[in-house]
Amino acid sequence: MSIAIKRVIAAAGLVAVWSCTLTAGAAEAILEGDRSVPVEARKGMVVTSHYLATDEALRVLEAGGNAIDAAVTAAFALAVTQPRSGNIGGGGFMLVSSEERGDVTAIDYREKAPAAASRDMYLDENGEVVKERSRFSHKAAGVPGTVAGLALALEKYGSITLAQALAPAIKLAEEGFVIPPRFAQGIESQAERLKQFESSRKVFFKADGSLYQPGERFVQKDLAATLRRIAEQGVQGFYEGETADLIVAEMQRGGGLITHEDLKNYQPAIRKPVHGNYRGYDIYSMSPPSSGGAHIVEILNILEGYPIADSGLNSAQTIHLMSEAMKRAYADRSEYLGDTDFVDVPLTGLTSKEYAASLREQIDPEQATPSVEIKPGNPAPYESNETTHFSIVDRYGNAVSNTYTINFSYGSHIVVDGAGFLLNNEMDDFSAKPGVPNAYGLIGGEANKIEPNKRMLSSMSPTIVKKDGKNYIVTGSPGGSRIITTTLQVLMNVIDHNLNIQAAVNAPRIHHQWLPDEIRIEQGISPDTIRLLEGMGHSVVQKSAMGAIQSIMVGEDGVFYGGADPRRSTSSAKGY
Ligand code: GLY
Repeated sequence: MSIAIKRVIAAAGLVAVWSCTLTAGAAEAILEGDRSVPVEARKGMVVTSHYLATDEALRVLEAGGNAIDAAVTAAFALAVTQPRSGNIGGGGFMLVSSEERGDVTAIDYREKAPAAASRDMYLDENGEVVKERSRFSHKAAGVPGTVAGLALALEKYGSITLAQALAPAIKLAEEGFVIPPRFAQGIESQAERLKQFESSRKVFFKADGSLYQPGERFVQKDLAATLRRIAEQGVQGFYEGETADLIVAEMQRGGGLITHEDLKNYQPAIRKPVHGNYRGYDIYSMSPPSSGGAHIVEILNILEGYPIADSGLNSAQTIHLMSEAMKRAYADRSEYLGDTDFVDVPLTGLTSKEYAASLREQIDPEQATPSVEIKPGNPAPYESNETTHFSIVDRYGNAVSNTYTINFSYGSHIVVDGAGFLLNNEMDDFSAKPGVPNAYGLIGGEANKIEPNKRMLSSMSPTIVKKDGKNYIVTGSPGGSRIITTTLQVLMNVIDHNLNIQAAVNAPRIHHQWLPDEIRIEQGISPDTIRLLEGMGHSVVQKSAMGAIQSIMVGEDGVFYGGADPRRSTSSAKGY
């Protein structure tokens, strides 16, 4: 049922062929919609950033597994096939829409600061932030949450065992897989930094130090053994015993902070997702410690007051209004968002229609407000670049939207010696010093200061939209600070602009995050639109593609439409 789009590249005299696979659903949604498979014969849809993970997850659905079984299988497969972001050394968030319970639940398996972490740990003697320390040192790593989070998802909502979900990943690590160009290019682009760590050099380079080439096989024996210990012993196989010993030994070698106690104490959390309503659609997205859900709902609430469908997709008027709403939301992010286990976040206020109306009053429909004039707002008082996302639906009516990460591409670039996986550098998502931007240019405040055992603020926004109580859109993206705006635009492209899911994913995107005061655009926004925006007082800059949003739409007719993001050559949507 799949349509393989063959691409051929010539690299260093070698011709490599790989396929970016679109589903029948995705491709035909652009045409008419595939109704050739009767609804009762449908198995589900999987959209991930790597075709091998998509294949493994679809096999689980075909064998009768549910979306959660397929999600955990995909997550472990991505940890092997896409180690730059797929991981067991990082953390993330999973939204589960359960048909049986009729609700949407969030599993928070974000990394935590080690117990020995402290507020000023990334400052030098002059009080200045030492970026290398929060990004590329053993101290950059938070306590990983992925293994505990995936195990919890399976235990609560799955129907297969952890060993079954791990089996394809173990095989891929043990026997290897054929290297696609993106994989080889990724290592080449980070070669210098990866080679600084002997443990990483051993994994990502050949014995003579040379680069792997597309078409060659990539085998990870240490990682296979690590995954096997999890399959045999459950979460203890990672957080205790040999793997824990290897992590702690790695920490001691490089002056890191994670201890046996930190690992043993790590627990994922079940959270209530942020819920909003946009033009009659129910929006569920990630709650703190992610800022994603709060600000997607805040921005949508502001925009609901404008006739966006009439102003049109990516017109100057629509981009102006989106940017003005985004600026105000990111200003609020800098002030209010943090881990709700440690700080109060005014979530109800930030996501209320009244607050959105008050922000709308500040927006001039024809003129940009300079960011220096925008301060974090006053919501009702407290009541309480490289990441990867996949979306899955099953025939039973369940849906999973999962985003997980080790932060940068290749995280800290440090492989745990003997265990074969990369450590995250998620500690950089804390605010190392209030007012000083992190790697994504995001400003943070007191709410996101470093504290022992606290979760660092995230922008990851796994999202599920329901229409009349049924799953309608399942989506999410990597992209650091751009995750929120990327996800937002796919929702708007479907709800406001009536695009099919593949067209919604493909459409050029824009981004404004308050500071820096500029609208960042992708290729594809017309020059006259840019001129009109500049005339309104905006600074517009075109940069590289943003995000890699992997999305599904469930049609009213029960047909699954997959929308894989063409911004990643390995993205794939498959299902029926
Ligand atoms: N590490 C990026 C994020 O969680 O937002």
